[in-house]
Amino acid sequence: ICLHVDTGLMRQDESVAIMSHLADQGFENLHIVEAESQFLRQLGELTEPEAKRLAIGRTFVDVLKQWMKPFGKGERWKLVQGTIYPDTIESGGSRNAAKIKTHHNRVEEIEELIREGRVVEPLIDLYKDEVRTLGGQLGLPDHLLNRHPFPGPGLGIRVLCSDGAKTDVSGLSRQLDSLLPDGISGEVLPIRSVGVQGDFRTYSHPAAIWMTKGDRSSWSQLKTVAAQLVNSVEDVNRVVLSPTPLNGRFALRPTLVTKARLDLLRTVDAMVRELTEDIEEIWQAPVVSLPLYDVQGDPIFVARPVCSLDAMTADVFEMPWELFHEMTEAAAAIPGAACLLYDLTSKPPGTIEWE
Ligand code: XMP
Repeated sequence: ICLHVDTGLMRQDESVAIMSHLADQGFENLHIVEAESQFLRQLGELTEPEAKRLAIGRTFVDVLKQWMKPFGKGERWKLVQGTIYPDTIESGGSRNAAKIKTHHNRVEEIEELIREGRVVEPLIDLYKDEVRTLGGQLGLPDHLLNRHPFPGPGLGIRVLCSDGAKTDVSGLSRQLDSLLPDGISGEVLPIRSVGVQGDFRTYSHPAAIWMTKGDRSSWSQLKTVAAQLVNSVEDVNRVVLSPTPLNGRFALRPTLVTKARLDLLRTVDAMVRELTEDIEEIWQAPVVSLPLYDVQGDPIFVARPVCSLDAMTADVFEMPWELFHEMTEAAAAIPGAACLLYDLTSKPPGTIEWE
């Protein structure tokens, strides 16, 4: 029996695609567990990235064990994980690494299964590019080998949450303002995202910038400005580009992971993926939903198209301006979405995922 757990945190139509890929590869007796409500229940009131990661990892093991029970196969199942080498490093699992984020396949409940000898991880010593080479040698089709990577905790860590408690970032915004060159304005956002600096985790504010004289700046200038801001403004670890001025129009609101937010993120994410999937230089183009809303109550989204070889470091993809406008306009036209910003932060100092 082969089991796929649908966490409800998957991309649009992803579970259907997974089942058909597995069937194509010759697996029989495939089962799918619809566990969305269980995952949403466990995410409940959680707002902190690490708490959400741990809850998702733990719930996965709970679902697995529940499902196995009535089948009377208590002793007869194994969990096959596609854990790769960086997952262990970034979870703080090697002696020389600090914890950046706990990957879903390294939570305590999984470590327990590993000690029981229940986990099979054939790719554990490989980087992602090596996995793709190996997959090619095994004859896997290109559309599987070259899919954009997707984290185990899925969209659960791309819906940023908030308890609504306000943070005063006006001082930081003034500091930011004094550093911006002519033709660029900006503000610090009252939310936080995860980053990595000198092998350590950061959890601080993103800043948004926008061009005040049309598309006069080049990507290299924007990326240089972003790097300078992160280096000079303490408590800013990420910079995003807005297609239009924000001017404090967006307010922080209490926000949790809900099906409605996930569905909207799925729609924006599918649009971004469709526009970027065939661009070879793009390694991954995550889309993140922020707990910042306009007066209509519509949230901000951020796209993060990056170029990378193994995800240990990443560069911002310099999108042709025509495509940039097509994508941001398409997002703003989606009912319920306010606007789409573009992440200008390399890794380091920004991790690829925001949580
Ligand atoms: P970061 O955000 O650490 O991501 O720069 C590096 C790569 O790892 C993916 N990622 C994960 N993959 N489980 C996974 O299987 C996870 O918990 C996880 N967290 C991040 C991320 O999408 C990127 O490709």
